[in-house]
Amino acid sequence: MKEKLEQIERMAREEIETALAHNGNRSEIIENLRVKFLGKKGELTAVLRGMGSLSAEERPQIGQLANEVRSKVEQLIDKAKKDAEEFELNEKLRTEELDVTMPGKRRIAGKLHPLTQIANEMIDIFIGLGFQIADGPEVEYDYYNFEMLNIPKDHPARDTQDTFYINDNIVLRTQTSPVQVRVMEKTKPPIRVISPGRVYRSDAVDATHSPLFNQMEGLVVDKGITMADLKGTLELFAKRLYGENAKIRLRPHHFPFTEPSAEVDVCCFSCGGKGCRLCKGEGWIEILGAGMVHPKVLAGCGIDPEIYSGFAFGMGIERVVMRRFNINDLRLYYENDVRFLKQF
Ligand code: PHE
Repeated sequence: MKEKLEQIERMAREEIETALAHNGNRSEIIENLRVKFLGKKGELTAVLRGMGSLSAEERPQIGQLANEVRSKVEQLIDKAKKDAEEFELNEKLRTEELDVTMPGKRRIAGKLHPLTQIANEMIDIFIGLGFQIADGPEVEYDYYNFEMLNIPKDHPARDTQDTFYINDNIVLRTQTSPVQVRVMEKTKPPIRVISPGRVYRSDAVDATHSPLFNQMEGLVVDKGITMADLKGTLELFAKRLYGENAKIRLRPHHFPFTEPSAEVDVCCFSCGGKGCRLCKGEGWIEILGAGMVHPKVLAGCGIDPEIYSGFAFGMGIERVVMRRFNINDLRLYYENDVRFLKQF
């Protein structure tokens, strides 16, 4: 029995040593050894169970020896466990090391779409002039999109070629001008609003046409508003958008909902008016439509045209951005090719 106990001690020593040379989970192996040698079903317990067969003199000797072996093996295992844990911690530190001096990976930051960037810039200019933002539905009543804007049933602008009809009374708005009417119906002058938003026309897609595009509408109604206010406002807008040297000119035009009406050009910012590729030799570039709100439109919204007058303007945001960045194809805006978008 004595031999058996000494053998257990020897075996424990050897197996622990082997375990500590192991590369895997050392502390788990050590724990298994603890169970193997010292556990309830372990080697040492098995020896102690056989002690009943010993003589009265032998029993205390073997008992003492067994206790000594147990405490030795316990010590060995405790120490081995500490070693194993230290080893594992070092391994972890080594393999999970962070080199804080390594150069970082640059993350690509997203940014606003060129249309949104410039729209925001335009909005800021008008907000600086005291305008508020008004919103309206993109799916609009014929009544607001046409009728109230003095575009009767037989007007060519209603041609099914241009308008997406949902049904006889409902269309996808072809312009942001219906927002004028909605605002005037609800608000008493003074009114000073802009309404940026999407509009729809059933055009085939090409470099200068898209069935969906963005407009920004402006409306001012108050006592004593004149064409001079319109011109002054747009001149200031052009200078803020294109720089202090920007000049504008008004050309007579026709819109059913304004009288008089004008198309507004800016002096070509590429050649300064001499004529170049961008302005097709004209020296001027058309940017928007405008005019004095038609008395019929005012009256229709319950605003007395004898007391109040107003001006309105509307422009395509895509065009403004095209000119600003020298973009020659409208389709680039909507294809979302990052190589294109990255440039702005
Ligand atoms: N709604 C017109 C268009 O789409 C632009 C416009 C707005 C003209 C307001 C005059 C006044 O062409």
